[in-house]
Amino acid sequence: MLNEIEDILQQALQAVDAAEDLKALDEVRVRFTGRRSRLRRILGGIGDLPGDQRPSVGQAAGKAQRRIAEALEGRRLALERAAESEAAIDFTLPGRPQRRGHTHPLSATADELVDALRQMGFTVADGPEVEDEHHNFDALNTPADHPARDEQDTFYLTDGRLLRTHTSTVQIRVMERQPPPVRVLSVGRCYRKESVDATHHMVFHQIEGLYVDRGVSMAELKGTLTALGRRVLGGDTRIRFRPHFFPFTEPSVEYDFSCTLCGGRGNSDGGRCRVCRGTGWIEIGGAGMVDPEVFAAVGYDAEKYTGFAFGFGIERVAMIRHGIDDIRLFLESDLRFTRQFGSG
Ligand code: DAH
Repeated sequence: MLNEIEDILQQALQAVDAAEDLKALDEVRVRFTGRRSRLRRILGGIGDLPGDQRPSVGQAAGKAQRRIAEALEGRRLALERAAESEAAIDFTLPGRPQRRGHTHPLSATADELVDALRQMGFTVADGPEVEDEHHNFDALNTPADHPARDEQDTFYLTDGRLLRTHTSTVQIRVMERQPPPVRVLSVGRCYRKESVDATHHMVFHQIEGLYVDRGVSMAELKGTLTALGRRVLGGDTRIRFRPHFFPFTEPSVEYDFSCTLCGGRGNSDGGRCRVCRGTGWIEIGGAGMVDPEVFAAVGYDAEKYTGFAFGFGIERVAMIRHGIDDIRLFLESDLRFTRQFGSG
């Protein structure tokens, strides 16, 4: 008898839980606690039981009845509340506008540069941010006593590896892997031990290009960089080369784009241009013809092949493009900043 009561209780609780609306719940109530329910029959028959069973059966049946009543009441309240909140939705209220996400200004600039280079036949190559000295310095013909290797400029890991200081590492990785011709670009994060200020950061991004084949010349380098400048800074952009030195190129140049604000005149709003400081030019990055020593390090025949390479900081280009005056803004993820560059 006690087992039967327990059985009824479990069935009832399950049925209560499964009731999806008030009508179904009322049916459950009638079935398990109504006048013709099993439980009521048991309660009604207690007087006919042997005397020693009456108290325990009476108690168990009473308790089961109370627990079922409680479960019914709880479920009733929950169903009523759900029905109320559904009824409370006012479909005529104006919706809450959802902001659409958009590309970060740095990614947008990088995407355009990559796009322009891909249209010129460059494919995207990748390399690790944690590098070894071989790819970051040695194979790039950087002498052992070069100041860039200094602990004050480069982040070294305890195992001797380092955080790459430029994307030129990828040139070596690609040339080690495949024979010429090569026409690749690489974009990515670089690290230097800089004191952070408005124009320097210890984390920044570069884009790198490498083109090696028979008869590649500096004229093609100039044409490629001009096309890139025009794509991101406007169709009138001009370029100039200045002689420079890099261990991995010979000859090497630095290049400037004509100023986007004053158009290269050096003055705007009746005074000295604040973007180029009156020079008419904006410094962008480095480039040159791949040094034969670099070809030797990767096993390319420098008698047969020539190539150009270039690299520059993406932050700098994005800053000029959008008139941003502090490089730190790119990394801070402050929505008040990033939201200014979306269309929605
Ligand atoms: N790696 C240089 C830097 O970080 C930039 C650079 C200069 C890249 C000349 C090149 C290059 O590929 O040929 O300042």
